[in-house]
Amino acid sequence: MAGLFISFEGVDGAGKSTQVERLRQYAESLGRAVTVTREPGGTALGRAIRQLLLHGVPQHGPDAVEYASWVADADTGKGTGGIAARAEALLFAADRAQHVAQVIRPALLHGGIVISDRYLDSSLAYQAGGRELTDEAVRRLNVWASASLLPARTYLLDMDPALSHSRLTHGADRMEAAGAAFQQRTRQAFLELAREEPQRFRVIDAARPVAAVWQEIKTDFDALLASGPVLDGEPASVGSATGDGVAVTDDVSNGGGSDDESQKGSR
Ligand code: TYD
Repeated sequence: MAGLFISFEGVDGAGKSTQVERLRQYAESLGRAVTVTREPGGTALGRAIRQLLLHGVPQHGPDAVEYASWVADADTGKGTGGIAARAEALLFAADRAQHVAQVIRPALLHGGIVISDRYLDSSLAYQAGGRELTDEAVRRLNVWASASLLPARTYLLDMDPALSHSRLTHGADRMEAAGAAFQQRTRQAFLELAREEPQRFRVIDAARPVAAVWQEIKTDFDALLASGPVLDGEPASVGSATGDGVAVTDDVSNGGGSDDESQKGSR
């Protein structure tokens, strides 16, 4: 039985973890092996990276003075909470590279269902959409980092960030503190990604009650399982970077060719 890779995406506070847990319970009740994981932080290395990304790095001594003036500079550090936009994108991509290699791909190769709370589309929405790096650069970086692995299905839990943020029960982390305009750009970027790849994405109105959101996901998941190819090793099982999803050309990176080779077994 081939693996099935599913991701959940959406702005902070949209209710992803609740729905991830429901899907885990449901898939397990069907007798499937399920791996629930998350980004950033799905591995030990990733948890160290997550700490850096969400809470920054303590600065000491002479570094602290230089750092403080850099953060205060409107053209460089301001608004990013002290991590340069490109460094941020690379840290998320490093977390993803380790996550794919250590957790996701091995579980798929064993025929499991992998459910990830955030994946590559978060980088496209937050780092390209939110931070305004170019979409192309963030795509290239992440296609390379993930060795071209895409989910077969991505549930986008869509809601107005102004509403979803009021649901958060913890204090805002560095990303959540990036401001209302950033969050709105992120939401729009997610919706645009979903429009570009209607086969992979399902946009779910997450402002509704939990049960209604779950019902829509369950109905789609049942259809996905029933659609055959997903479970019998066809490319649809883990998605393809050369389909209508993340497009990548041969000259993107030196690793492109060998990445393609390395992922054949998991398709
Ligand atoms: P998340 O784990 O969903 O936060 P929480 O534990 O508060 O629910 O995600 C952490 C933050 O990182 C979130 O604001 C989204 C952001 N993020 C990116 O900016 N890019 C990425 O590639 C990923 C995976 C997350």
